Amino acid sequence: MRKNIVAGNWKMNNDLAETEELLSHLKMQMVKEPEAEVMVAPAFTNLYSTFKALKDTPVKVAAQNMHQAKSGAYTGEVSASMLKSIGVNTVILGHSERRAHFQETSEILAEKVNAALENEMEVIFCFGEELEDRKSDKHFDVVAKQLQESLYQISEDAWSKIILAYEPVWAIGTGETASPEQAQEMHAFVRKNIADKYNQQIADEVSILYGGSVKPANAKEIFAKEDVDGGLIGGASLKAVDFMAIVNSF
Ligand code: 13P
Repeated sequence: MRKNIVAGNWKMNNDLAETEELLSHLKMQMVKEPEAEVMVAPAFTNLYSTFKALKDTPVKVAAQNMHQAKSGAYTGEVSASMLKSIGVNTVILGHSERRAHFQETSEILAEKVNAALENEMEVIFCFGEELEDRKSDKHFDVVAKQLQESLYQISEDAWSKIILAYEPVWAIGTGETASPEQAQEMHAFVRKNIADKYNQQIADEVSILYGGSVKPANAKEIFAKEDVDGGLIGGASLKAVDFMAIVNSF
């Protein structure tokens, strides 16, 4: 059975004090054991303090990025083993902001996915089309290509470490959400694509999250769709009340 997951991507928000405040609010809001698996992804500087603050809770901590090399002359970068050494075993890869602003190509992303898996890390792999792709009816092709080029090199066994996140670029931070039907349609397409490439069991067991302007007001409707197994939440994850309302939408 696949898991329901709600992950908060805090992006480049919150200094140390703000992170600590958000974490204490989050803990206060978590009055009952959540139905879904919950994760938060703070900036690198706040990863360790977040890990320590959440140690005795069910909330997992994820990094927003990592470098593909083991170590070496890569000024400004952070490796998988560095993340693991502070207790972080999950990493978001392929976010559209990394693709767009930091020139992360499909090839680089394949290397990052492989490096994370070699280090036995869990990967939240993001993909999604841009507005022009959808307008020209190329969204399925674009998504299939993203999966093919960065993910389909992995072994069957490695799929137990993969979480997928469909984030249509036009819905990120815009207030415009994909309709529950549009999300469902793409998630079903992705599952079929994985079944064709690998097998039905892998396709059935992988969690596919939706991301893009998820809020307390629309989470329930989106998460109710058969192939939507949760969300990757940006803006609304920065407010503990809203984030927990989304977590409790299952
Ligand atoms: P928003 O929820 O702010 O649209 O961001 C989604 C996102 O990019 C999560 O990774």
